[in-house]
Amino acid sequence: MTMPVRRATAISCSNIAFIKYWGNRDPELRLPWNDSISMNLSNATTLATVTFDDALGDDVVVIGDEEVGGAARRRVVAHLDRVRAMADITTPARVVSRNSFPMGTGIASSASAFAALSLAATAAAGLTLSERELSCLARLGSGSACRSVPAGFAWWQAGTSHETSYAVQLAPPDHWDLRDLVVVVSTQHKAVTSAEGHSLAPTSPFFHQRLADLPTRLAMVRRAVLERDLETLGQALESEAIELHLIALTSRPPLHYLTPATLQVIHAVQTWRAEGLPAYFTLDAGPNVHLICETPYADELRTRLSSLPSVKEVIANAPGPGVRLVDTP
Ligand code: DP6
Repeated sequence: MTMPVRRATAISCSNIAFIKYWGNRDPELRLPWNDSISMNLSNATTLATVTFDDALGDDVVVIGDEEVGGAARRRVVAHLDRVRAMADITTPARVVSRNSFPMGTGIASSASAFAALSLAATAAAGLTLSERELSCLARLGSGSACRSVPAGFAWWQAGTSHETSYAVQLAPPDHWDLRDLVVVVSTQHKAVTSAEGHSLAPTSPFFHQRLADLPTRLAMVRRAVLERDLETLGQALESEAIELHLIALTSRPPLHYLTPATLQVIHAVQTWRAEGLPAYFTLDAGPNVHLICETPYADELRTRLSSLPSVKEVIANAPGPGVRLVDTP
């Protein structure tokens, strides 16, 4: 079936996980072993435009200013194929995706990229999905992308099937004026993808212990977000970040993401906290640190972070909106 040229643009925030997604029960469907909880990042966005056009010979994928091939293109084309199957079309597409933040900053670009791509592609294909359906679709592109679909704070319920694994809003963006200061200590591209990390996670002897302990921590983080309890959230955040890396370090083969600079920032945060500055760290699968604090302390923390010799950049984020359509630029 041929159709006229159809175009849509969507914007999505990336997100930072308070409770991490690490390990897939079903890697094809990206059904995780555990629920996770996150906050959308207001200053870390992807803008994606999808144009379905029969005049195109093949799919074209542009990320930043460059047309990409290889694995990056295949991953986007596989996602377009999912949307084409849903819309019952075969039309090739041009995808142009641009991040507001540089790669290698420790901000998950796949989360914002696949949330924005899911909405732009389905809208361009003439489909209207519910938030739940969109979250399920985004999850197939990148697990953490399902959490970027709802606004503010999101809770990804692991589920047991494609239709039951999606994120819902835990609280809207204006519920809590939290800040995530992304502390960039390295801009090197990571050598190990999160997909590899997910597949190795169950080889750690601590993996199943973590799963057994998680329901308590999930309930604690959920309550801490709802009650705006930074101390409880912060303690859970730090334990969770350390456990992610404990599992990575004890996977077979082990995955080393941390560097001396990561530990320097963590030690500084602990010292500042002892001095009365309430801030807590979390980490993703990389060396950069995310500092979670409340607004009144954000400027002081930012100044102190910027004075550390290992810190290259600090990117401040508030709780961000959900994925949405915008006018095509
Ligand atoms: C450590 O969502 O990047 O950031 O599904 O393979 O794209 P894929 O993995 P991805 O994994 C995120 C891992 C994490 C923790 C988290 O965001 O929950």
